[in-house]
Amino acid sequence: MIRVHTAAEFSQAAADLVAAQLKSKPRSVLALPTGSTPLGLYAELVRRSRAGFTSLAEARIFDLDEYRGLASSDPSSFAAFIRARLTVPLVLAEDHVRLLRGDAPDPAAECADYEKRIADLGGIDLCILGLGQNGHIAFNEPGSAWDTRTRVVELSASTRARIEANAGWGRPAPTHGFTLGVKNVLEARQTLLLIAGRDKLAAKAALLRGVQDPAWPATSLLRHPNATIIELSEPARSQ
Ligand code: GLP
Repeated sequence: MIRVHTAAEFSQAAADLVAAQLKSKPRSVLALPTGSTPLGLYAELVRRSRAGFTSLAEARIFDLDEYRGLASSDPSSFAAFIRARLTVPLVLAEDHVRLLRGDAPDPAAECADYEKRIADLGGIDLCILGLGQNGHIAFNEPGSAWDTRTRVVELSASTRARIEANAGWGRPAPTHGFTLGVKNVLEARQTLLLIAGRDKLAAKAALLRGVQDPAWPATSLLRHPNATIIELSEPARSQ
C-alpha cells in the first residue's frame, strides 16, 4: 500500500502508475471509476496529456458502473462524469470509449455486449477502483460473489443514502446499477484501488485485516497478483 498525505501526492502517484501502464502499452484497455476520489487523477492526466508527457489517444476506455435508468445524457450519470472529466478534455476518439448505457432497453444484452467489447480488445489491462463506504468496488455490494461478471445489481440502502446526500442530486436514488463484476476486476492484468475520505475507515480496516471476505468486496483484491493500493491519509485536524 502506498500511503500519501496530500491530495497532490495522491493524484501524482495514481497518474504515475497510469502513465507507466500507457508507456508500456499505449493501447491499454482501462476500466475507470467515478466519484470524488479519482477527480485529481483525471485532472492530472489531462494536464500531463496537454503538456505532452503522457497520451491516452490510443487507450480504450470503459467505466466500472452506471446507475440503472439514467441515460448517458443525464448530467448525473457516470457516463457524463467520465466524458466531462476525461474523454472530452482529452478529445479521445468516440470509438475508443465504451461506457455502460444505464437506460439500455435490454439490460442483459447491454451486459453481454459490454463483456464482448472488453474481450474483443483482449481484456482489461488496468482497472482503477474507488472504495465504497461499505467496502463495495464498482457497484459490487457486500455479499457479491468473487465469480460475478457484468450485471445489474440492487443498490444497498447505505449506497442509496450516500447518492441522495450528493449535493444537487435532488431525487430518489436509483434502486439498481450496472456494474462490472468482481471476476472482471480480478481478471484485469493490473488493479489500482484509490482510497480517500474519512468515511472509508471501516472498509480500509477490512482490507488491512488481510482476509478475503465477501462482506467487504474490496478484499477480493487481496487475491489479485498485481494490485496496488494508494491511500490518501490526511493528518487529523486539530480541534
Ligand atoms: C460509487 C461508485 C463507486 C465509487 C464510490 C466511491 O458508489 N459506484 O465506483 O468507488 O462511489 O465514491 P467516492 O470516490 O465519491 O467516495
